[in-house]
Amino acid sequence: MLIEESREIVVVIDSDRRLVAASRRAREAIEGLEEGTPLPEGILEGGEGHVPFVVPYEINGQTETIVYLSEPGDLAAYQELRAGFTASVSHELRTPLARLLALLDSAELPDSNVPELIELARREVRQIGELIDDVLFLSELESGKEVVSLGISAAVPLLREVADELAESAERAGVVIEIEGADETELPLRPRMIRVIARNLIENAIRYAGPGATLSLSVTSDAGRGVDLTASDDGAGVAEHELARLFERFYRADRARTSRGTGLGLAITKHIVTSADGDVIASGGEGQGLTVRCTFPAVDA
Ligand SMILES: Nc1ncnc2c1ncn2[C@@H]1O[C@H](COP(=O)(O)OP(=O)(O)O)[C@@H](O)[C@H]1O
Ligand SMILES: [Mg+2]
Repeated sequence: MLIEESREIVVVIDSDRRLVAASRRAREAIEGLEEGTPLPEGILEGGEGHVPFVVPYEINGQTETIVYLSEPGDLAAYQELRAGFTASVSHELRTPLARLLALLDSAELPDSNVPELIELARREVRQIGELIDDVLFLSELESGKEVVSLGISAAVPLLREVADELAESAERAGVVIEIEGADETELPLRPRMIRVIARNLIENAIRYAGPGATLSLSVTSDAGRGVDLTASDDGAGVAEHELARLFERFYRADRARTSRGTGLGLAITKHIVTSADGDVIASGGEGQGLTVRCTFPAVDA
């Protein structure tokens, strides 16, 4: 039902105040929601900080009521988040643009190595393009314009495809990619989303694990529990206290490393995985490699 997927805190009740449906967010926000049982006391009266917005309608001769329970402050927090995001994007764009400008200035100097400067400038433009692509993709995911979780796909063949695409740059970086798992094991995602996740995880190992590292991408299924997609490398890793922050937008551990990136890859990965009712965790430590494990509920045959 559509209500389930709503981003709002919203419930539907029948004429006896019994619950017909509730959004996932409503279930998180309100305890004791259960289909067929009356709504907990006080909810409709605007208690506990909820300000309800009530819309009654008729269906099959019965009256049902849709109740939006927005939390005061919710909107403000959301707007703050958007504003913060815009500020971060502008800031992240300004850095490569400033470098680009400096390169153009150097190109005007009498003894400048123009071909080299052009190549460096090209890199900055690519960086800007990547950032814009990532920001747009993330906002498409968030606005629901790009549907994430409708679909089921066998993961291993897709992982292999992406690994092949990146084989050359992996070799240049001295990183070996291994793929493990049964070809037919399925994840609850469209092929495009599995490709996006695989690309992010493989590119990260190429960028950050360091030469000599091996990245193992594996898909495992456990009948009772679900399906996992795990990317585990034995490279440089990140400090333990940074592990939880890796999924934040624009967060990049140890900026001193010379690499370029948008800091959005793992944020996008997390968004995709949680949209499919999965979860993602990072483990490892400085010098102990990084493991990113995406867990999904079992796919029904
Ligand atoms: N395999 C890895 N090994 C070590 N550090 C990593 C690895 N993958 C990600 N990281 C760290 O996590 C940060 C965030 O990753 P990500 O969101 O993909 O952004 P980006 O790759 O654009 O920097 C990276 O900047 C890096 O510091
Ligand atoms: Mg990345």
